Amino acid sequence: MIILGLSGALNHDPSAALLVDGETVAAAEEERFVRDKHAKNRMPLEAARYCLQEAGIGAEQIDVIAFPYAPISLLTPARWHYARRHWFAPERALDALFNGNRRYRRNRRRVQELGDMLGINWRHTQFVPVEHHLAHASSAYHLSGFSGRTAIMGIDGKGEYATTFFGYGEAGRIHKLKEFYDPDSLSGVYGAMTEYLGFDMLDGEYKVMGMAPYGDAGRFDLSRLIRRRGNGIRVDTRYVNTVGLRRYKENGVGYYFSNRLVDWLGPRRQGDSAEEPYIHIAAAMQQLFEERCLEMLQLHLGEVLRETGQLAIAGGGALNVKLNQKILDLPCVRELFVQPAAGDSGTALGAATLVAARRGERVTPMRHVYLGPGFTTAQCRQALSPRRESFSVTELTDPAGQTAELLAAGHPVAWFHGRMEFGPRALGGRSILGAADSPGIADRINTQIKFRERWRPFCPSVLDKVAPDMIQTGHPAPFMTITFKVSDAWRRRIPEVVHEDGTARVQVVDKDSNPRFYALLEAMERLTGNAVVLNTSLNRRGEAMVCSPADALEMFFGCDLQYLVLEDLLITKAGTDA
Ligand SMILES: [Fe+2]
Repeated sequence: MIILGLSGALNHDPSAALLVDGETVAAAEEERFVRDKHAKNRMPLEAARYCLQEAGIGAEQIDVIAFPYAPISLLTPARWHYARRHWFAPERALDALFNGNRRYRRNRRRVQELGDMLGINWRHTQFVPVEHHLAHASSAYHLSGFSGRTAIMGIDGKGEYATTFFGYGEAGRIHKLKEFYDPDSLSGVYGAMTEYLGFDMLDGEYKVMGMAPYGDAGRFDLSRLIRRRGNGIRVDTRYVNTVGLRRYKENGVGYYFSNRLVDWLGPRRQGDSAEEPYIHIAAAMQQLFEERCLEMLQLHLGEVLRETGQLAIAGGGALNVKLNQKILDLPCVRELFVQPAAGDSGTALGAATLVAARRGERVTPMRHVYLGPGFTTAQCRQALSPRRESFSVTELTDPAGQTAELLAAGHPVAWFHGRMEFGPRALGGRSILGAADSPGIADRINTQIKFRERWRPFCPSVLDKVAPDMIQTGHPAPFMTITFKVSDAWRRRIPEVVHEDGTARVQVVDKDSNPRFYALLEAMERLTGNAVVLNTSLNRRGEAMVCSPADALEMFFGCDLQYLVLEDLLITKAGTDA
């Protein structure tokens, strides 16, 4: 069966994923093609076109279009909860009760239009809506490869109405145990405080998490923002997850926090630096988020976890790698799978896998994220021809070994190889690399290339043979979705990729999923003694990750990097000492 999953229902992170007989053959975010980070207010037209082209499938052959947004019945508690909790914004409350599926109907029309543009034959292709949180849950459970009972947690700002999902998977079926509804959203509060701390929601949450270790969580008690209520939570919307007249406004822009929050904590943070009191507020927010998540996780999924210890998670909140470290530290959790495209782009894959599983197909577990476009060396060479800048091109006989030599000599290198990653992390397909033991390399990349905040950490990619010694566990970590404590000895060896608190968000690289990247790490071990590289995504601040050779060149010539490896080609800027 051919199933095309499409995300984009919530006006951000549209993506497409194609499943053929249960196997993911292609998946990509729209932002990479249209060169607009998060591709807000767009539908995944280019991503869908790419998926079909990659698989050599015509639009008329698609059996199902699976969409991660569904109508919500008035017979469930979701819309009533929303209405009751938004009494202070009556137009929203009444809308939830009397016109609660308006957004669904608009989405349905947009998918219809997109399908028409693709050339879908609607007499053959069925449209199947999937509840947003079931899609997140499916992307976690069905791609985890776990057999036996598996606890599932979904955590994001908001889908239709649900914000948090607890359930379990067994024998290919997902069972819902508990949901929280808007405005009672753990991720929503984190997002609102991200705005208060001067970053964009959906983008700056990593930055809050990166800032937190510099602060003292004990300096602010934020517990009033999210209180325990029965077997759920209650968010104080007088402070956060605020709508309507309660919203704090600055230059005509409304935020998801209130004036009352500003009266309490002080003015919203401005600028780029990590300073008091904001570092302490970031630390307190991170701590509150972790505490409430862990408490609710154990309450609702403790029984399943004590039985098998398997947990699969997704949703934007699951990209909180510090939370994930704490989850893995729980005695009842033996193995944690964090679906790497945990944000809304992954719901395309989630909706598609749910439909596949419901129709009796076996979903192939996710072993890697190289699901986007790939390019030959000849295509890379073609992309070079129209450029006017001065550069030299060398055909590499040993791309991995020769790149490692540049890295070992202290140079950062842009690395473009194989198919583009699905999800927000660069994992050796579209990366900027540096030697993790080269003093000052992180600062250099930060100030000269990425132009991002200096206090944000960089992450290491590590050879699988070395990882257990470095992070003191053999737990799988192929996707940079969990932080681990780095051993003292390794902390001294690779200071450029260890965060303030002694942890690192590692990618453990195995030979099967990316042989060339693996060979590069082996060469680094021979040259430097450390089978580790600093690995950050190939893009400049605020831009989507590079997709094509032309994008890579655009980015390369727009920054201070000297070396770009495009498949088998080494591009060196003029005036560079080799
Ligand atoms: Fe979501």
